[in-house]
This record gives sequence, C-alpha cells and structure tokens, in this order.
Amino acid sequence: MPDFSGRVLHNAAGKPLSLIKFNDVLSDIKHLKALANTYQLEFVGLQQLAAIYTDKAVNQFGQHALVSVDEGVGLVDLRDPKLLPLCVDFAADALLYRKDKGGGKNEAIAKAVGIKSTLRPSVVDATAGLGTDSFILASLGCQVTMLERTNIVCALLHDGLDRGSEDVQSRDIVARMKLLPGNAVERLQELIEQKQEVDVVYLDPMFPHKKKSAAVKKPMKMFQTLLGHDADADDLLTPALSLAAKRVVVKRPNYAPFLQDKAPTMQIKGKKHRFDVYLR
Ligand SMILES: C[S@@+](CC[C@H](N)C(=O)[O-])C[C@H]1O[C@@H](n2cnc3c(N)ncnc32)[C@H](O)[C@@H]1O
Repeated sequence: MPDFSGRVLHNAAGKPLSLIKFNDVLSDIKHLKALANTYQLEFVGLQQLAAIYTDKAVNQFGQHALVSVDEGVGLVDLRDPKLLPLCVDFAADALLYRKDKGGGKNEAIAKAVGIKSTLRPSVVDATAGLGTDSFILASLGCQVTMLERTNIVCALLHDGLDRGSEDVQSRDIVARMKLLPGNAVERLQELIEQKQEVDVVYLDPMFPHKKKSAAVKKPMKMFQTLLGHDADADDLLTPALSLAAKRVVVKRPNYAPFLQDKAPTMQIKGKKHRFDVYLR
C-alpha cells in the first residue's frame, strides 16, 4: 500500500483522529494498527467502552473517532452513545437484500452507467464514500475501481473490503472492487497517463442538504458533518470526461446545479436524486 496522499482529518485540537481499540471487542490488534498506520490515524489501545462516551474522552480524542467493532472498525460520535458505529459492511443484510431483491439492471444507477443484458462496463467510482453505489455496480457484474480521498473513509472502506472478502455471500462481488486511496483529480490524471481502459467514470460528490431535509439518517448526518460538502466537485468533471471511453455519470440531488454548469446529454430522474449522463 503506497503512502496515503489524500485528506487527513483532524480534531478540534489539530490532532489526527484516533482509532480506538476497545478491551472487550475481539478484533485483531495487528489489523487495527496497520489500518491506523496506513491512513494516518492515531492508534489508541485498549480503552473501556464506558470511558469513551465522556467529556474527558471528547477532550482527549475530539468528537469523532474510529473504534473497534466485531472484527473491524466503525466511526462514532463520542458525544452520542446511542448512535451505532457507522461501518462499511458489504456482507450486511440490507446491501445483500438490495442486491437480490432490488431492481437489478433496472435500477436507475444501472441504466445510468449503461448496463445492458450482456454489457457490463468497467467503472471508476471517483467519489467512493462508503462504497454503496460501487457495491451495487459490482453486484451487477461491473469491475469497479474506487477512488476516495478522506483518510477515515478509506480506512472504513479498506476494512469493509477485507471483511467482505471473507464472507461467502459477498466475496465474489467484493473481488470486483478495488480501492485506490487519494485525490481523484490526481488519480484520474494518472489513469489517463497510464492509458487505462475505463468505460464509465461515476461521480457522487457531497452536496449541501436542504435545511428542511429530515430524511437523512443519523449516522449519515455524522458522516456529512465530518466531511462537509465537496466544494471543489467541479474539478472532477474535466479529467472524468478525458478518461471515460463511454460516459460520465454524475449523481446529484434534484435541486443541485450541473457540475461546471455543463448540461448533460441525458438525465435519469428519481424522487430525490438524478443522474446526469455525459455520453462520449
Ligand atoms: C456523497 S459521498 C459518496 C457516496 C457513495 N456514492 C456511496 O454510495 O457511498 C462523496 C465521497 O466522495 C469523496 N470525494 C469527494 N471529492 C473527492 C475527490 N476529489 N477525490 C476523492 N474522493 C472525493 C468524499 O470524501 C466522500 O467520501
């Protein structure tokens, strides 16, 4: 794994976020230390769960940290013990349910990337986030390269891929997913220079939510608060258009403007989101 060259998040005291191993969780300490080391997190060993959701812990670690959960890691808000850790779990029932019972190649995202009966485009998901869209595309048979710039998100994804590759139900899907950490503007440029053959580049940058939207679930709110919105999202469109041989797909809330104010070739609209499709 190369040195991490993406965005390293810090707490209010200017220190890197921590990865905390709980006493009573059975996860492998070597795996956690390696994850912390790779993504520039501060490893903190063997804390009691009860001592973590306290003002003292918030002063020491900041409001957010990654913690050990069964076998892997999850993101927590140390001010909110009721909030479950946010993990990437490709073996989770909800994702596998969507894979099996969702719309399959009739899902809007499948149509947007151009999946047809025998055609499975290769995809670079340049804003991988928690990997849900990548997983859906990989479950439909696409080879997916995931680019992600934020260190804690990379650590969650990396851990999710490790666990998913050991699960009987998800391992074949996860085998089609690859994580390339770092800023996508640079990573896309590298792929262009290496003359990599990529059919589709998929973009889903963070966009500020409307104040009224109460629908966002609490763990996702924590994710959004921590990451903020991707104000530089326009920078992704030009390299994406240079790399993609067939199309660039941009997922946007319905109220968001086009990237670079550039009108797409076509749109696929859902209730809350739309896919702007730029054909090459
Ligand atoms: C809205 S989330 C993506 C959600 C994802 N589609 C999913 O299904 O989970 C946007 C993600 O893109 C990442 N991101 C934004 N701009 C980026 C860039 N220039 N390079 C790499 N990652 C970027 C953010 O760190 C964030 O994790």
